[in-house]
Amino acid sequence: MEKRIRTYNIIVAIAIFIGLPILFWALGDFPRRSSLKETISVVTILAFCMMIAQFYLARSNKNTLKAHKMSKVVKYHKFIGYTFVTILFVHPFLIVLPRYFEAGVDPIDAFTCIITSFNSTGVILGMIAWCLMVVIGITSLLRNHIGMTYKTWRIFHGILSIAFLIIAAWHVIDLGRHINSSMRIYIIALAGLGVLLLLKTYLFKSSKPSGETK
Ligand code: HEM
Ligand code: HEM
Repeated sequence: MEKRIRTYNIIVAIAIFIGLPILFWALGDFPRRSSLKETISVVTILAFCMMIAQFYLARSNKNTLKAHKMSKVVKYHKFIGYTFVTILFVHPFLIVLPRYFEAGVDPIDAFTCIITSFNSTGVILGMIAWCLMVVIGITSLLRNHIGMTYKTWRIFHGILSIAFLIIAAWHVIDLGRHINSSMRIYIIALAGLGVLLLLKTYLFKSSKPSGETK
């Protein structure tokens, strides 16, 4: 029975965090570009969805994850964290990568132009989200060397993640070229619920975070 629930949970999670965004991308009425550009877009969108999924792969979602061993859930959380933070770390460079294969604006010039677009709210939000994400990655990697107890680190990590997700979601909705109303509702609903789930564990004593899971 437990095994069936675990399998069911995994199928539902894959459908929500991978299937749905791919479906929105495939069915959306967006101008199609080269396969390289579309692949980069889909990878970036999926990496962002994995950031949302992180909120559901933690103790804050333990009611749904009852059939799973928490140590295993955290193992997946760490793997997804390091993998997709790395992908999103290079996202600003990936945007200009296809320009190496096209005539026209030099990729380095295009990159400089993007990161100096200080009049674009979307770009500024992206840069803030990127910095928060780097801090999340580094403080996860160096968790045992930054002199915080596990509990303090987890709350620090959770609060940084909330700030990151809100700003990143705003960036994606503002700048994403594959954003339509379905995608917008999807992002706001899943990110909002994930954040509320975590805030509930912080604000209500009965479900406060406890104990260490390595
Ligand atoms: C980069 C590598 C990452 C590592 C090694 C890591 C590790 C962890 C660990 C060990 C926990 C505690 C799990 C638990 O007991 O519930 C945790 C919780 C959490 N993580 Fe991560 N994480 C990473 C990235 C991320 C990212 C990118 C996000 C979101 C954008 C995120 C969001 C969260 C949230 C919301 C919690 C729950 C915090 C709490 O229970 O107070 N993590 N993470
Ligand atoms: C230095 C930081 C960043 C810059 C300069 C930046 C810039 C951009 C730009 C210019 C676009 C539009 C791309 C296009 O028109 O093809 C975009 C889209 C996007 N960005 Fe960022 N970004 C940054 C950080 C981030 C971060 C940290 C995340 C995720 C957490 C993120 C997720 C996305 C996503 C999902 C899209 C939509 C892709 C699509 O619809 O094709 N970005 N970003």
